[in-house]
Amino acid sequence: MKKIIGMAAAGAMLLALAGCSGGGGSTSGEGEAPATEDLIVGFSQVGAESGWRAANTKDIQAAFEEAGIELKFSDAQQKQENQIKAIRSYIQQGVDVIAFSPVVESGWDTVLKEAKDADIPVVLTDRSVDSADTSLYVSFLGSDFVEEGKKAGEWVTEEFADADAVKIIQLEGTTGSAPAIDRAEGFADVIGSDPKFEVVASQTGDFTRSGGKQVTEALLKSNPDVDLIYAHNDDMGLGAIEAIEAAGLTPGVDIKIVTVDAVKDGMQALADGKINFIVECSPLLGKQLVEIVEKVVAGEEVEPRIVTEETTFTQEQAIEALPDRQY
Ligand code: AHR
Repeated sequence: MKKIIGMAAAGAMLLALAGCSGGGGSTSGEGEAPATEDLIVGFSQVGAESGWRAANTKDIQAAFEEAGIELKFSDAQQKQENQIKAIRSYIQQGVDVIAFSPVVESGWDTVLKEAKDADIPVVLTDRSVDSADTSLYVSFLGSDFVEEGKKAGEWVTEEFADADAVKIIQLEGTTGSAPAIDRAEGFADVIGSDPKFEVVASQTGDFTRSGGKQVTEALLKSNPDVDLIYAHNDDMGLGAIEAIEAAGLTPGVDIKIVTVDAVKDGMQALADGKINFIVECSPLLGKQLVEIVEKVVAGEEVEPRIVTEETTFTQEQAIEALPDRQY
């Protein structure tokens, strides 16, 4: 009797598993969805260029650990060729899902096609790609960077409403990356309609503090009368603060600063009055990424685009938010 009940239970389990399509490197409905503890996800991270990135890595690793899903992690050190190598290695290893945050927007079609041919679903996190064939990935989870640039521009137009002329230095993120392209575009869209705003210089600081410092040092020499620095992330803004102070000027007063991210160090500088406004970009993508992975391997529908919710911070709001800031 016991034997019969055991066989029936095993049969029921098999039927339940067969009902879930996808997984095991397949979303086509062939094969069985692996149990959570058998899932393997390969994640290729951009690098460790900023406080935002460190928080993003920590959050993703913690979320997968909590979910009991094995996460293979590789750091591409801001190089596209390293990400392509990592993705190819995940394909060879036959992971169930590949997730990655593309360092730049272009040049992914070949490797994404290889993943698709191997029946391994790909999820984009944080940054997108410019591939015309959107069937090469199942979902893109991340911020609306154009909107972030617009929010920065809107603050600038209000802050300088009474000024006759405003000279701006833009510290760009990594050349060719989605946030650098989109944050520049959103900002230009808003300030571009008023000729009093002039971007006198725009250069990449590669999303790093040292890059922001170096570029600001050089640009201040040729543009000593600049009114505002728009940095595509907090780290470059923090580097700019060092350069401004080294030039004998007061950041936040002599030169206003607006940045994107809202990591703790940036928020502290905002609370201290050295940065004037921050547009938030949330790095806390781990839980949502786990949910997407679980749905994909279970053969469930996933949203092709999931936009992260975020806000903006003035000095007062930063002071209030800082004690509970997670990153
Ligand atoms: O892609 C998100 C951006 O990358 C963050 O704003 C920046 O800090 C990071 O390096």
